[in-house]
Formats: sequence, C-alpha cells, structure tokens
Amino acid sequence: MKLAAVIGWPIHHSRSPKLHTHWLKRYGIPGSYVALPIRPEDLAACLPVLPKMGFTGCNLTIPHKEIVLPLLDEIDAAARAIGAVNTVMFQDGRILGTNTDVYGFSEYLRRSVPNFRADAGPIAVLGAGGASRAVLYGLAEAGAREIRVINRSAARAEALIQHFQRPGLTLHAVDDAGAQEALHGATLLVNATSLGMTGQPAHTLNLDGLAPGATVYDLVYSPLDTDLLIQARARGYRTVDGLGMLLYQAKPAFARFFGIDPEVDDDLRAAALA
Ligand SMILES: NC(=O)c1ccc[n+]([C@@H]2O[C@H](COP(=O)([O-])OP(=O)(O)OC[C@H]3O[C@@H](n4cnc5c(N)ncnc54)[C@H](OP(=O)(O)O)[C@@H]3O)[C@@H](O)[C@H]2O)c1
Repeated sequence: MKLAAVIGWPIHHSRSPKLHTHWLKRYGIPGSYVALPIRPEDLAACLPVLPKMGFTGCNLTIPHKEIVLPLLDEIDAAARAIGAVNTVMFQDGRILGTNTDVYGFSEYLRRSVPNFRADAGPIAVLGAGGASRAVLYGLAEAGAREIRVINRSAARAEALIQHFQRPGLTLHAVDDAGAQEALHGATLLVNATSLGMTGQPAHTLNLDGLAPGATVYDLVYSPLDTDLLIQARARGYRTVDGLGMLLYQAKPAFARFFGIDPEVDDDLRAAALA
C-alpha cells in the first residue's frame, strides 16, 4: 500500500487529503494520504523518518516550504529558482524536492484563458510572499516582459524583484502608495496576498484602469468568489479563481506519489469544496 502525506503547522485546514483521497478511490489505488501536524522545529527530525515508516513522499505547506530546503539531497531547477519546495519524494535513501505550485498556477491560467499571452502587456502582481514567488517564476517562464510587484512592505517586493531579474524582463517594486497607478494598462492582475480571504480585510483597489479585456486571477479560494473577482466581473474582465491552482498543483504530486497522472474535473472540484 502506498502512503503519502501533507505536512504543516497547523494542518487541519488543508484540503489536500480530500483531493488525493478522491483520486485514490477513483483510480482504485490501494493507498492513503494523510495530514501530519509537524512543528517547524521538528521538521529536521521528522522528515527522514517518514520513508522508514513507508511514505513514498509528502507535500509541504506553511510554514515548511522554505525551511525544508537545507534538509533535501536534491532540489530541481524550478524549486531552486522559486526558493520553495512543496513536494518531496523519498527515493533510494535520498530526499528530493520540487515545486508544483508553479505548475498549478500556470496550468490553470492556460486552461481558463487559452489565448492568454504573458508578453501581451504589463502584469501586476499583488503580494511578495511565497505564493508570489511561484507566480513570478511562472510568468517569467511564460515570457512576461514587464511585471509590477505591489506589496505593503516595499522592501519585500524589492528583494523579490532582485531575485527574479533576467534579460528581457522588466520588474518594478511598488508599495501601497503606488498600487493604483501600477494597475494602469495591466493585461493581467494576480492577487497573491491574503487580502480577501475569509476573516481578512478586502482589497480597496479600483480596477477601472486595467487594460480592456484584462484577466484578474485571485489565488485566494476561501471564499471562492472574492470581492476582487466580483468587482472584476462587474467591469467585464475575465476572472480566474484560486481553487483551480490548488487542484492542478496536486496533479503532478499525485502522479509522483501514486504512479497515475490523475484527471482534474468537476468531481474533484466538488470533493475539494465538500
Ligand atoms: N490557490 C492556491 O493554490 C494557493 C497557493 C498558495 C497560496 N495561496 C494563497 O495566496 C495567498 C498568499 O499566500 P502566501 O503563501 O504567499 O503567504 P505569505 O508568504 O504569508 O504572504 C502573504 C502576502 O500577503 C500580504 N498581506 C498579508 N496581509 C496583508 C494586509 N492586511 N494588507 C496588505 N497585504 C497583506 C503580505 O504582505 P507583507 O509582505 O507586507 O506582509 C504578503 O505579500 C494566501 O491567500 C494563500 O491562501 C493560494
């Protein structure tokens, strides 16, 4: 029987067990995917024990995605560039790390807006945390030419743009005071902050200045229909919700853990929301 897990602290909120358990049942795989609450200070002691307990791999969520890096024997190029690992495999006594958040972000965007072009115009990204790192990497790889990173803490946005410098890509760090202006003419707006989440304040941005036909992608999925998406729809922009990214980041992880490339469909979406 194959065994995998999601590790976090706290972990009770994670929807990953629902997704993987749905797929295990659907494909008739004798396996199990469980949530393990592990404190950050215990990760170094716990991670190497998991393969001895029969785990083939695990996902990592807050607060482990960055602190796991020094514990790994191998980190693939994308995870290294992003600076965060969310999927770990145990293979032949070695611990290997990758990042499937970037696939989740980019694949759901590609499917939701098939004619999307990252190089069609400036892109505005709200937030400079872990999620924003995966978003910037995904957009840079897709050929973005200009990205404006808007964050409450300007220093964090500045650090991020330094990290993602590459030829042909212009990056700007913008603080709250410049946020409204930074939306002007953007063809894609991504919310990678926790603003708009249940229990958090909503955004106060006016979306009127986005480019006609722009796409607004909110990584927040609780609630599914955020104020930002409602505002965007009311102005005729295309919208992309945060749940799809969550579903698609699980797909390559499941394939690695259980050996089948699973389908993301309405049944899985319903299972995630149940
Ligand atoms: N859909 C998915 O699969 C998926 C995957 C990952 C994350 N997410 C979502 O993405 C969001 C960010 O996650 P993360 O992992 O990047 O978190 P994080 O590393 O803690 O970063 C949080 C970001 O939100 C900003 N922020 C928090 N509270 C704020 C406030 N009151 N006003 C203005 N800015 C505020 C922070 O700004 P400062 O730097 O100034 O603190 C930072 O940029 C969360 O809502 C998370 O649920 C979704």
